[in-house]
Amino acid sequence: MWPLLAALLLGSACCGSAQLIFNTTKSIEYTICNETVVIPCIVTNLEPKDIVEIYVKWKYKGKPVLSFDGSNQKTLTSSGFRSAKISQSDLLTGIASLTLDRREAVVGNYSCEVTELAREGETTIELKYRVVSWFSPNENIVIVIFPILAILLSWGQFGIVTLKYKSSHPREKTILLFVAGLALTIIVVVGAILFVPGEYSTKNASGLGLIVIPAVILILLQYCVLMLAIGITSFTIAILILQMLGYVLALVGLSLCVSECTPVHGPLLITGLGIIALAELLGLVYMKFVASNQKTIQPPRKAVEEPLNAFKEPKGMMNEE
Ligand SMILES: *[C@@H]1O[C@H](CO)[C@@H](O)[C@H](O)[C@H]1NC(C)=O
Ligand SMILES: *[C@@H]1O[C@H](CO)[C@@H](O)[C@H](O)[C@H]1NC(C)=O
Repeated sequence: MWPLLAALLLGSACCGSAQLIFNTTKSIEYTICNETVVIPCIVTNLEPKDIVEIYVKWKYKGKPVLSFDGSNQKTLTSSGFRSAKISQSDLLTGIASLTLDRREAVVGNYSCEVTELAREGETTIELKYRVVSWFSPNENIVIVIFPILAILLSWGQFGIVTLKYKSSHPREKTILLFVAGLALTIIVVVGAILFVPGEYSTKNASGLGLIVIPAVILILLQYCVLMLAIGITSFTIAILILQMLGYVLALVGLSLCVSECTPVHGPLLITGLGIIALAELLGLVYMKFVASNQKTIQPPRKAVEEPLNAFKEPKGMMNEE
């Protein structure tokens, strides 16, 4: 009955005016970061006096998604598109855009069919999905490189301590340092594996957490190693304070980034990680410097032992490896 009536009305009205005109959009993109997806459908010449005059039908690949009947103001959604909705208040201004939950959105062609009394029109919009990386490629690299560099430097410090100061401290301490260093290395490697470049996900976010949070072990290790090798000097304190500062920055950066689909505080996190690695480097250089100084300026009473130690050292190195 209704199509017949519509056809009659259409026939009686003059051809062009019976058509609704759309502000056409060919396609629209969404990413993992869109909580909801809005598929636009805007009629430019809709002039309803009342919502009862309007009927809207959204279809996906020809199958119904949502229909809104202004005469009884009822919205019907199909299974699979339960979150679909249109705004009734916007409808009077010609906006029949469809809002969907991202989890229910599927890529493909959607058609929007609007009827106002005798006038009608249809437009098709293609919904596309775009993959976006959580951090930029460069940020991804640096976020992984800095902690790994810091860990390598930490192993360098450990090497110096075990080789140069072998006799001066108990073996248990060395073993403890080794175990802590190994645990840190494993945690960060697991973190780096989880933190593979890609879209924002809980997997990525936990990987980032595993890369950043355990850096506190790095500070403790550096503290132990510096105390064993050098003791408290203004320089060791400065290095440790610098590293703690870096850690705080990295933690703040992490907390700001970890729940953000499009993180803007990546540079803060990276600065923190960079400072941690820098402090590690300074510690290593300082240790190396002090160690070589201690070798040349030996107290006289040890002068006899010195040549002996020099012979022993290479052998000790081989045993370590
Ligand atoms: C997804 O979000 C972006 C940025 O907020 C927005 O410009 C875009 O229109 C959204 N896409 C859809 C399909 O809603
Ligand atoms: C949607 O329609 C356009 C134009 O008709 C076509 O080029 C495109 O391939 C279609 N997209 C899908 C996913 O079917």
